[in-house]
Amino acid sequence: MTIDARGRMSLLFHADKLNELLEVAWRTGLLEKIDAAPDEGVRLAELCDSLGMVPGRLYKALDCLEGLAFVERIAGPTMLETRYRSFEPLAPAAALVFGDDSIERDRHAQPWGSLRGRLGEVLRGEPGIPAEDFAWPPTSEQAARFAASMAAGVPPIAESFQRADLFAGAVRLLDVGGGNGTLACALAENHPELSVDVFELPELQPLAESVFSASPAAARLGFRSGDAIGGSLPDGYDAVAFVRILHDWPDEVARELLRKAASRTDRIIVCEEFRTPSRLALQTFWSYFLIGVDGCVSRLREWKRYEAWLDELGFESELHPGAFDIGSATRR
Ligand SMILES: C[S@@+](CC[C@H](N)C(=O)[O-])C[C@H]1O[C@@H](n2cnc3c(N)ncnc32)[C@H](O)[C@@H]1O
Repeated sequence: MTIDARGRMSLLFHADKLNELLEVAWRTGLLEKIDAAPDEGVRLAELCDSLGMVPGRLYKALDCLEGLAFVERIAGPTMLETRYRSFEPLAPAAALVFGDDSIERDRHAQPWGSLRGRLGEVLRGEPGIPAEDFAWPPTSEQAARFAASMAAGVPPIAESFQRADLFAGAVRLLDVGGGNGTLACALAENHPELSVDVFELPELQPLAESVFSASPAAARLGFRSGDAIGGSLPDGYDAVAFVRILHDWPDEVARELLRKAASRTDRIIVCEEFRTPSRLALQTFWSYFLIGVDGCVSRLREWKRYEAWLDELGFESELHPGAFDIGSATRR
């Protein structure tokens, strides 16, 4: 089912058309019907009847979905008897990409326009994205916008934490680089015995405090202001979490952050897009955008890499797979 390089480039060249096709397929319910098909597939005639679509036209649209390797076509004796099924659920994936509040729409609103048409020069050393548009770490003026963008991606992370069930019993958690505290709120609200402090740059404090004040778990939420890179981490926590933090830094800084955490706690939690083909694809926007932001390295790493570093620090790790994989390590 692999599509060769020429084929993939053709798809990419026509991405605008295919995006419309996918969004229409999702919004009309076509994807849902294909997802719900039995093993032998759903007939074209049935799709047309239930969706009020024209067979000869839908057949071509479905060829596009097949070209994208989203659907499998099972030929029948006539065009109307052609059957379709999806290789994996398409409607939920489309909702995450094309939905009105999708993370992709939020990413698209980042100031990536200054790279457009200049990518070759930027790769050869010309200035990238102006710091007044996007600096790393964000300036105090940019902090709210960036934190809101990060917060938009928190629900699947919170859900993965909920599923991994890492906080049995009373736990004090330090969320290093916890942004505006959206994840801290979700964790504290989901685990009544958990208290969470966000450790962040000082400019995030008013943002986090405003988020905390609206939470029913406000009494168990706190903010610790500091610099995790230049300074040390505070003491007194049962667990220290790095959520979408370590991949922002080169190896030596990421290892040093883990070492600092290991000197403060017996439990370290790492959650980010660990490097797999699908996660790398999901990260594409940032990989592209950060070409223009030298201060942020963007280093997606395999979980195995973190596991090895944690092992060197005397920690035994376990991976909890989910919408976001979560690595949890305990001192041996
Ligand atoms: C990619 S965001 C992740 C935010 C949050 N953990 C999440 O997943 O939504 C990285 C965060 O690291 C914070 N950060 C950057 N440098 C830092 C430092 N030296 N000390 C503490 N936090 C820092 C930024 O302010 C930002 O909120």
